[in-house]
Amino acid sequence: MEDNLRESVDYVQGHATVQPRTAVVLGSGLGHMAENVVGAVIVHYRDIPSYPVSTVEGHAGELILGNLGGEKVVIASGRFHLYEGLDIDTVTLPMRLVKALGVENVIITNSAGSVCKENAPGSLMAVTGHLDCTFRESPEMPSIVSDSRYHSGELLEIARKSASVEEIDLCEGEYAWTLGPSYETPAEIEMISELGGDAVGMSSVPEIRAAAELGMNVLTISCLTNYAVDVVQTPITHEDVIIIASEAGERFGRLLSTILEQIGESE
Ligand code: HPA
Repeated sequence: MEDNLRESVDYVQGHATVQPRTAVVLGSGLGHMAENVVGAVIVHYRDIPSYPVSTVEGHAGELILGNLGGEKVVIASGRFHLYEGLDIDTVTLPMRLVKALGVENVIITNSAGSVCKENAPGSLMAVTGHLDCTFRESPEMPSIVSDSRYHSGELLEIARKSASVEEIDLCEGEYAWTLGPSYETPAEIEMISELGGDAVGMSSVPEIRAAAELGMNVLTISCLTNYAVDVVQTPITHEDVIIIASEAGERFGRLLSTILEQIGESE
């Protein structure tokens, strides 16, 4: 293990009262979902040696360890993005940290724009595949990656079942990753739509890849906070994203707790 990762892991383990089996990464405006954690121990990113701090509004910058839905969890409230000027190793560091803590399942959440008229703002979407629209690795047009290594079929089934138990609408679709920090242009949304994207956002794919490649099971759920710019002709603001994510928070929190319960029962 890299020396700086070892330092971070030792610090978190020194404060943790549970050994988490599932990690949850919270997206913009979704931080209060961590409020229901039982026996919560909070570790601030700024106190973890060799760990970055998150600079984006709506991201608290803390790890919460405890029990949620009866499952031992570590929740990362605050994530890192490439647009903060961080490199890919830093953005994916939380995945290496949770793996070292013993985590087997990762639930990645995010706020995203809806590319489909049918999925109105406030909708929750289980991600069944992703598209890398950053052109960082290839100049070729991206195609959808829906391999179960990156989008666990078992966890998707648990998400569907949990949504049905909670009577929460959960749509499904493909998440397109863009670099940001600007929201997309109409031309970019048109391209994403033609490629089969249903949601667009500036995060998650680095974590999905890293978690999968470390051998963890991955489930990604998007909170669709706005229509992408080409769907309705309205400007998008980070403030609106945070407001809609907070409004969906109670529903999202219930879904998450039930998913965690069902993960606990399936093991
Ligand atoms: N585009 C990119 N990222 C986002 C959006 C969007 O419309 N909404 C929330 N995050």
